[in-house]
Amino acid sequence: MDEALISTINKLQDALAPLGGGSQSPIDLPQITVVGSQSSGKSSVLENIVGRDFLPRGSGIVTRRPLILQLINRRSHPNKVAATSKGDDLLDLDNNAKKDEVQGQSEDNKEEWGEFLHIPNKKFYNFNEIRQEIINETNRTTGNNAGISPIPINLRIYSPYVLTLTLVDLPGLTKVPVGDQPPDIERQIKDMLLTYISKPNAIILSVNPANADLANSDGLKLAKEVDPEGTRTIGVLTKVDLMDQGTDVIDILAGRIIPLRYGYIPVINRGQKDIDSHKTIRQALQDEKKFFETHPAYSSKAYYCGTPYLAKKLNSILLHHIRQTLPDIKNKIEITLKKYREELSSLGTEVMDSPNSIILNMITDFSKEYTGILDGEAKELSSHEL
Ligand code: GDP
Ligand code: NA
Ligand code: MG
Repeated sequence: MDEALISTINKLQDALAPLGGGSQSPIDLPQITVVGSQSSGKSSVLENIVGRDFLPRGSGIVTRRPLILQLINRRSHPNKVAATSKGDDLLDLDNNAKKDEVQGQSEDNKEEWGEFLHIPNKKFYNFNEIRQEIINETNRTTGNNAGISPIPINLRIYSPYVLTLTLVDLPGLTKVPVGDQPPDIERQIKDMLLTYISKPNAIILSVNPANADLANSDGLKLAKEVDPEGTRTIGVLTKVDLMDQGTDVIDILAGRIIPLRYGYIPVINRGQKDIDSHKTIRQALQDEKKFFETHPAYSSKAYYCGTPYLAKKLNSILLHHIRQTLPDIKNKIEITLKKYREELSSLGTEVMDSPNSIILNMITDFSKEYTGILDGEAKELSSHEL
């Protein structure tokens, strides 16, 4: 049922896209936004969630402009409706991680690509080139001496393996200006983060390094400011592998330190050495799994640790959000249908092949096919809340 719903949402977005004028999505899908201190592992977490290797990462201030990353499920494009159900998962981690492994060797795999808003009509099939372009474009507006800018970089990734969804990578919180940074760097970055995490449809990934004291977390503090009830904040604990021997995050997970409604998920991303030695995401995910399964503190709860569980949790929060917006979606379909019927009838019958009538047919087909699923989902929702 969940897969059918996600697939429906993707198709609906595609069908309605021509009406809304590009980025204007008729469905208010959540944006997943990271917040945390500098080098806490925000970019690494996002990259692991997507399962592809393409974000600049490293020590110091690497992410210096917001990156608005739109994942676009492309299989469901109107004239390209194939039916693999595997790809309906938001995060087909395994599949994407496999891709990541062969990337660079095979250029003829043209089912996934990236496009930047600032370079129209260029398709990037090589994800290393995507990373390089993010670095170049960052330097273009901020210089290469640690300057920051609130002007976002817009990147779209088209793939059959993602849910149409937006992720936002942001600079980390920092206190002391370095390089070309302004004296009020702390305030500027805070304001930048607040712009994104204040949106009601922002799901906040509060990223905290496990080897630092949670009570000192500025990211958590900021998340609490905009989401005091914690209904859209998930805690992520990174660098669990770097904790002092004999210490662990069990007390945090149990909600004994700073409780969060959705709790915390411990993960292990690639360290700097892994990045330098080109360790693949696939290998990193295997190592992460092994770490939690064999660690005395985590082995009994290994299922609730690591990137795949974070992905599952995000999926369920997304579905919850989508279900809540279903009545609104149905409403929008009906309004759109009515509008186009009226326009068409005012134009007379000779225009039946006009773009509008093609869109009308598409939406009519769509709503016939899927109103059933939407109704079913709505019933299911009322019978048991998430
Ligand atoms: P950001 O500044 O918050 O975006 O952090 P990055 O993702 O750029 O990571 C900062 C540095 O920390 C990089 O060198 C990463 O390799 C390293 N790092 C991130 N997460 C982990 C982790 O879970 N374990 C280890 N050992 N290193 C990590
Ligand atoms: Na960093
Ligand atoms: Mg970063």
